[in-house]
Amino acid sequence: MEALKDVRILDMTHVQAGPTCSQLLAWMGADVIKFENPQGDATRGQLRDVPNADSLYFTMLNCNKRSITVNMKTPEGAQVFTDLLKKCDIIMENFGPGVLDRFGFPWEKIHAINPRIVMGSIKGFGSTGPYADFKAYENVAQAMGGAMSTTGVPDGPPFVTGAQIGDSGTGLHLAIGLLAALHQARRTGQGQYVEVAMMDGVMNLCRVKFRDHQRLTRGGLSEFSVPTHQGMGAVPRAGNDSGGGQLGNAIRCKPGGPNDFVYIVVQEAVWEALANRIGPELGMPGLAKDPLFATIGERRKNQNAVWEMIGQFALKHTKRELMAILNELDVPCGPIMSTEDLAHDEHVRGREMWVELDHPQRGKWFNVGMPIKLSASPAVIERSPLLGEHTDEILREVLGYDAAKIAALKSAGAFSAPKKAKAA
Ligand SMILES: CC(C)(COP(=O)(O)OP(=O)(O)OC[C@H]1O[C@@H](n2cnc3c(N)ncnc32)[C@H](O)[C@@H]1OP(=O)(O)O)[C@@H](O)C(=O)NCCC(=O)NCCS
Repeated sequence: MEALKDVRILDMTHVQAGPTCSQLLAWMGADVIKFENPQGDATRGQLRDVPNADSLYFTMLNCNKRSITVNMKTPEGAQVFTDLLKKCDIIMENFGPGVLDRFGFPWEKIHAINPRIVMGSIKGFGSTGPYADFKAYENVAQAMGGAMSTTGVPDGPPFVTGAQIGDSGTGLHLAIGLLAALHQARRTGQGQYVEVAMMDGVMNLCRVKFRDHQRLTRGGLSEFSVPTHQGMGAVPRAGNDSGGGQLGNAIRCKPGGPNDFVYIVVQEAVWEALANRIGPELGMPGLAKDPLFATIGERRKNQNAVWEMIGQFALKHTKRELMAILNELDVPCGPIMSTEDLAHDEHVRGREMWVELDHPQRGKWFNVGMPIKLSASPAVIERSPLLGEHTDEILREVLGYDAAKIAALKSAGAFSAPKKAKAA
């Protein structure tokens, strides 16, 4: 937790895209002040599994942060915000378009208040262009960034992927931008505005699909298991094709349950060993030398037959057995791991990627661990904060407010939701 220990972040982010970024920065040691609307990040109450407790949606994305509630729609709340800006190195937000401007704090004003501060913004589509005014959630970004049109099978509907590439993927992009801008600010004394649009982040993650898009102007795509031809325009959905220079597919195993599959990459270098292992069991001892499959070009042309043969072999083995057989042959492969498999996996536990935590409202729970391992700065994961748990502490320690000032701000409503007007 040493890497960013001298970095303080004013974190106005909510839902998933922003919090996933600030959680990573907190795990690298930054002091992340989660600056919340007095009602709290909406995810605290979404998809609740324990009554009146912060939901897992919230707890899993907001570890190692301190929470302060501030009502930005009061002059006193806006003053607290201004004071915090002067004490922070980074401010970050992922509000809908125009929210900060409506608060009266566009980037120019924030920069004038603290010229060193770096500001990070996530928007669905960025601040310019015809889509700039639109809100976005994960699957909207997957739809519009190219992921959905290339996921699924050609004669089925487009599919979203379970990996949250629109939200968490964009959070990763923002973390990289913030660290680069912070590095520059420490050198020059000048902060800058870092913007990541979810649609742009998804396009970045679909880069190889745009490789294929351009290849289609010159000819069909020989590695695809589905038909392609020159001039077809859009890259088609191609099921579980590897999408790379090596052939790959998900192969069903014993006993045939929904996750009894192994993803197998028939790397050029391993074909002979693989063919010598599966051929004899299939009554094809000469498979390695069969001209239909001898070269990568032939295997591409006849790949559906390759999957058929491997599939027959696989049906006699469980995914774990098949993994062991293939690893012995140096064949790159991976069983399809369910969330249940992963939650009990020895490798995952050993790498601290499924971490048990305690929480005053919900008791024991688990979080996915820190995927970036810094040798001299390992993450120590701590539970997420309760709503406003650190309001007084931050006002005292970070801003140096005394008890009388804090009490006056409280009675002016700086930290609470506006009182609802009584119904007539
Ligand atoms: C995610 C999203 C669709 C949610 O939309 P939403 O629930 O309508 O929330 P918005 O961000 O648009 O607005 C937040 C509101 O809370 C208010 N608010 C937030 N913090 C506040 C505070 N501390 N004090 C007072 N009001 C506050 C804002 O003023 C705003 O109200 P307004 O519209 O009256 O100005 C939207 O925030 C968005 O498009 N974000 C950018 C893309 C993104 O990150 N999407 C992925 C989320 S995982």
